[in-house]
Amino acid sequence: MDKLVIRGGRRISGCITASGSKNTSLPIIAATLLTGNGTFSLHNIPDLKDILTFTQLLHHLGAETSFSGNTLTVSSRNVKSLQAPYELVKKMRASIYVLGPLLARFGHARVSLPGGCAFGPRPIDLHLMAMEKLGATITIETGFIDATVKGGKLQGAHIDFPISSVGATGNALMAAVLAEGTTTISNAAMEPEIETLCKFLTAMGATIRGTGSTELQIEGTDSLNAIEFHNVFDRIETGTLLAAAAITGGDITVNGVDPEQLKAVLKKFIHAGCSVETTVSSVTLKSPEKLLSTDVTAKPYPAFPTDMQAQWIALMTQAEGISHIIDKVYHERFNHIPELNRLGAHIDIRKNQAVVHGPQKLSGTTVMSTDLRASASLVLAGLVAEGTSEVLRVYHLDRGYEKIETKLNSLGADITREKYIEF
Ligand code: UD1
Repeated sequence: MDKLVIRGGRRISGCITASGSKNTSLPIIAATLLTGNGTFSLHNIPDLKDILTFTQLLHHLGAETSFSGNTLTVSSRNVKSLQAPYELVKKMRASIYVLGPLLARFGHARVSLPGGCAFGPRPIDLHLMAMEKLGATITIETGFIDATVKGGKLQGAHIDFPISSVGATGNALMAAVLAEGTTTISNAAMEPEIETLCKFLTAMGATIRGTGSTELQIEGTDSLNAIEFHNVFDRIETGTLLAAAAITGGDITVNGVDPEQLKAVLKKFIHAGCSVETTVSSVTLKSPEKLLSTDVTAKPYPAFPTDMQAQWIALMTQAEGISHIIDKVYHERFNHIPELNRLGAHIDIRKNQAVVHGPQKLSGTTVMSTDLRASASLVLAGLVAEGTSEVLRVYHLDRGYEKIETKLNSLGADITREKYIEF
């Protein structure tokens, strides 16, 4: 296995370009299953473990893919298998994204149940509810979701989500674009990943009204076409890089971003005392003398994202005063806290909130990654900790951060990747 060895105490400063968004890439790649007409060219796709897993899944289904220089080409002309096996789904919950497209195009899909998750229950009931509303019959047996549509064609319907779900909204959208008639989605997720998916599907020939809002209306069509598409930047990677500069007292410019998507996060950096300047495609953060404690509540977009919550907690270990962090998306997403405390942080968990007492001097030790964003918070803490920190099980980090140590080293960090054997 790989570990990151971080020699802390170096300032993270300079200019860097954001990678393409992982969480936008996944639904877009799934959407290529909607048509056999032509070959997709998807640019700015990050070179990540999750992307590899998803392309393996597409291969398994019969699609042809090639990946080079952040461009993924996909042809779904020869898709024959309609079954997503456990071996691939267990590696990545987002595999559930193939359900909507397969069902819409072929009238049948079998997808392994995704199973548990490191930070609490992550049900898929809303995905299934949406498919049923569109006319699918769903049975669950031997660990598989089996979805079929009588007559082979989904029917437009009204889908009203009781809570905002990025994945379920994406799946419903991908199913609805090939359904017969009109579908309306109420309480749709507004995350930029969904907005980009709407734009992608529209470019393929779908008719979608309300893009970027919580009310979407889709007119089904019989046929869609492959397109060339430039993926958007990764807002979570960008937030993490800004936090890396802020936690080490550095100044950073991240290029290739849309600051509009980062509004809630930038507001919190300003509250914490950082100076933030934006252009249409960049954000520059300058660290203050002293970081100030800043409370955060993670909620669906446009609020502060749950995927930045762990990194924010790491940052607040260096802020003057007490910060309260609540996650209203995943109430139990606090696996990083015991590990941050092992580095010397003073963080309590009271009911569903983390209480961070700062500033605390961190000192390097060996810590364990438990999930993607938890790993990012440990790397941030390692950057500011005195001495050497080792972050084990880096495969979590590799699922979502492209060349993370190369990027941070180019900004002044001292991180090496080493092999180790876990007993
Ligand atoms: C996506 C992101 C993930 C992010 C999350 C919230 C991808 C690949 N992953 O995950 O990084 O943390 O959005 O921004 O894009 N829920 C249900 N039933 C369902 C589906 C979801 O109850 O069928 C609940 C979840 O448990 C959670 C909330 O809805 O409490 C939001 O989850 P959701 O937006 O669906 O997350 P994902 O799409 O899985």
